Order: sequence, then structure tokens, then C-alpha cells
Amino acid sequence: MGMSDENWSSATPTAVRLLQYTKADQEEILGNGDDPFGVASAGLTWLPKEEHFGIRHEDRLVAHTGLLRLPVAIGDTKTEVVGVGGVAVSPGMQGQGLAGLVVTAALEHARTMGPQHALLFCRPPLVSLYQHLGWHPLDTHVLVEQPEDRLVTMPLRTMTMPLRDDAHWPAGPVRLFSLPM
Ligand SMILES: CC(C)(COP(=O)(O)OP(=O)(O)OC[C@H]1O[C@@H](n2cnc3c(N)ncnc32)[C@H](O)[C@@H]1OP(=O)(O)O)[C@@H](O)C(=O)NCCC(=O)NCCS
Repeated sequence: MGMSDENWSSATPTAVRLLQYTKADQEEILGNGDDPFGVASAGLTWLPKEEHFGIRHEDRLVAHTGLLRLPVAIGDTKTEVVGVGGVAVSPGMQGQGLAGLVVTAALEHARTMGPQHALLFCRPPLVSLYQHLGWHPLDTHVLVEQPEDRLVTMPLRTMTMPLRDDAHWPAGPVRLFSLPM
């Protein structure tokens, strides 16, 4: 590898598929604070993601997005969505489009996974950021599973993204047949 390759890669961040994503990887991005995603007050139990995408910068992981398929009902339609979660960018690298890059890379893969739509949950202040990235806020009621057979209303905002040109989000309330991601 010549110098020019290194210079190119540091000037042009690229998102790659990660073979694994551990707690230590998350801490490398966001530190080891109590509530790195700002969602602890919701008191929810979350699912780990199954596929991971990240951006490395100077040998450090600086951004991440995770994916997994989730069974859902949307109104009368039983289907699956690709759940997107764990979106994170190192504090020192925020505001440079890295979340956009890593979410876009994850969605490119999501389009090969089968479901027609991706879905994510976020805090209200992030709705405009995801809208800017092409996501749509969903204003219907969303139920998610929690431990001990509990079913709770999702207190965060739900957003969706079509994964195909002809995708159409059915009308009606949403129920995840799993923990949220
Ligand atoms: C939320 C987070 C991932 C955003 O990362 P980021 O790298 O700063 O985001 P980006 O710079 O890629 O911003 C994405 C786009 O939204 C735009 N944007 C940023 N804030 C915005 C806002 N409040 N309203 C509208 N658009 C906004 C940016 O301009 C950018 O668009 P561009 O690529 O056309 O310039 C980051 O702040 C973070 O890791 N926070 C802590 C963890 C967390 O809360 N994760 C969210 C879990 S849902």
C-alpha cells in the first residue's frame, strides 16, 4: 500500500460491513457513559443487531449502524421489516455526514434482505436528521414486546424507509413481534 492509498482513505471515509460489533466497539465510538443513546428514560429492553456496518478513521471505529429482520403486523398485514438501530458517531466526528454514510451503506444491504421497508426508533430531536436522510415519520400507534410477556407502546418516534420503488406502507397500527431494536 502506498502513501496515496492511506491519504485517500483518511480523506474519504467509507462504510464497511463489520464482522462483529461488541460492547467494546460501541464504547470506542460513544465512550462508556450510562446512556450513550439518550434513551434510558424510556426504560426499554432492546435487541442486539445481527448485521453491522461501520466507518474506521485512523484505526479507530468512529461510526456504526446495525440491522436485523423483525416480524411485524402493520394493520392486518403480517410481514417483516428491517430494523435499524445502534446508529452512532463518535462525538468528535459528528456533523460531517458520517451517520448519513453509514446508514446509507446499511440500507444498501437492507435492500438485499427481503423486507420492503426499514424501520427505526429515535428521540424526537433526531426526527429532522432522519427526514433529511429520506426517512418518513410514522404517526400510528406502535406496540413492542418487553420481557415477561409485556406489550408496551413505543414512547420514541418511529420512522420508516421504503427499500423498493414499489413499496407501500400499509395503513394501521404497528405491532412488533419482538423486543425493539
Ligand atoms: C445522531 C448521530 C448518529 C448523528 O451523527 P452525525 O454524523 O452527526 O450525523 P450526520 O452529520 O451524518 O448528519 C446526517 C444529515 O442530517 C443533517 N442534519 C444533522 N442534524 C440535523 C437536524 N437537526 N435536522 C435536520 N438535518 C440535520 C446533516 O446536515 C446531514 O446531512 P448532509 O449529509 O446532507 O450534510 C450522532 O449525533 C450520535 O451518534 N449521537 C449519539 C447516539 C445517538 O443518539 N444515536 C441515535 C440513535 S437513533
